[in-house]
Amino acid sequence: MTDTSEPSPRVLVCDDSPTMRALIRSMLGPDYEVLLVETGEEALERAPGFAPDVIVSDLLLPGISGSELCRRIRKTAGLAEVPFILVTTLADATSRALGLEAGADDYLYKPLRERELRARVVSLLRLHRALVGLESRQHELETTNAALREAQAALVRAGKLASVGTLAAGLAHEINNPLSYIKAGARSLSVTLGEVERLATPPGGHAPAELTALLSDAREVAAEMLEGSQRLERIAGDLRVIASPDAPNDESVDPAEAVESAFLLVRSRFPALPRLDIQVEPGPPIQSVGRLLTQGLLPVVENAVQVSGPGGVVQVRIRQLNVGVEISIQDSGPGIPADVLPRIFDPFFTTRPQGQGMGLGLSVAYGIVHGLGGDIQVESRPGQGACFRVRMPRRNTARVGLP
Ligand SMILES: Nc1ncnc2c1ncn2[C@@H]1O[C@H](COP(=O)(O)OP(=O)(O)OP(=O)(O)O)[C@@H](O)[C@H]1O
Ligand SMILES: [Mg+2]
Repeated sequence: MTDTSEPSPRVLVCDDSPTMRALIRSMLGPDYEVLLVETGEEALERAPGFAPDVIVSDLLLPGISGSELCRRIRKTAGLAEVPFILVTTLADATSRALGLEAGADDYLYKPLRERELRARVVSLLRLHRALVGLESRQHELETTNAALREAQAALVRAGKLASVGTLAAGLAHEINNPLSYIKAGARSLSVTLGEVERLATPPGGHAPAELTALLSDAREVAAEMLEGSQRLERIAGDLRVIASPDAPNDESVDPAEAVESAFLLVRSRFPALPRLDIQVEPGPPIQSVGRLLTQGLLPVVENAVQVSGPGGVVQVRIRQLNVGVEISIQDSGPGIPADVLPRIFDPFFTTRPQGQGMGLGLSVAYGIVHGLGGDIQVESRPGQGACFRVRMPRRNTARVGLP
């Protein structure tokens, strides 16, 4: 009956009569591993260790009855689903109903017939295995389903980020052209101003004081224009990093400094801040772009400060990983509801009142962090704040993913 590659099925037999125990034992034959017990109490004690595949029990037992044994087995972790056969001489409908109500799967009447006992055990075993198989298939399907849903969400997010990326690339391109005129113009203006001053200065003398003052102002303006255009150039460069995820990142960056800069930038936007608790595990710097890492952390820090409020606390931990560092930012806000959580990195998703948020913060953070080869994830239980974890690779060639 049994497949030689599989262990013999285990049958727990509970009967107070030694004759019946011996009879059932011999009827089952050598195909089964059988444990014989005398009482329901003993059955309850030994069943978890024996882990039976089928239980065969007399209905009338000296202590707890067969149906009570069945009821308790149904409440025992790991045994609740084990097929249970009650054996009785009572053929009346009431005792049969009691047994079935207690969760028994089948009945056998005395006198027992070997062929019937074996047939019932085999059929219950088969049924049980089919059920277990179905359950594990269902579990597999649920897991696959969850993975598919996550993959689908990631695709949607990637699609939206790609549009943000295209927008960023377009902007960077559009900014660069007029920028080159402004920069060249500011430079040539400085030169021209110098030339004007030279022409206005009589040999051996001084240019009129009024003109000198005007020229000095104009030179300052030209210098500011140059500085402003250099800043714009950096912004255009940053936009390109958001647009193309594999931008070069080769500075030596101290992650703690990037976090501090982000807090410094946020400070000016809020009248009062929550308490800040930063713990840094010391480690070597990472290869990245410091300015961008700060920009990537900024929206997360900003949200954390905003939701925690002046009475709250924002905890930052910097941990060394084998492949890089993890920066976790935990706030003391209300947390993120489960239905909001999958959407927070979507561009233009916001739950803030109109006019108070664009819903761009986290999508920009996501774009920048990914652009630098890192990853950003969030965990949150309502009422317990949110924890954002940013993982950055130690070297610019590596990519880190969260498990
Ligand atoms: N720390 C947090 N706690 C609770 N909810 C958060 C937190 N961070 C983000 N969220 C939720 O995610 C949404 C999106 O955040 P995101 O920073 O992208 O946009 P925003 O803050 O609404 O607007 P913006 O940052 O553009 O001003 C928020 O509206 C909020 O619902
Ligand atoms: Mg925000």
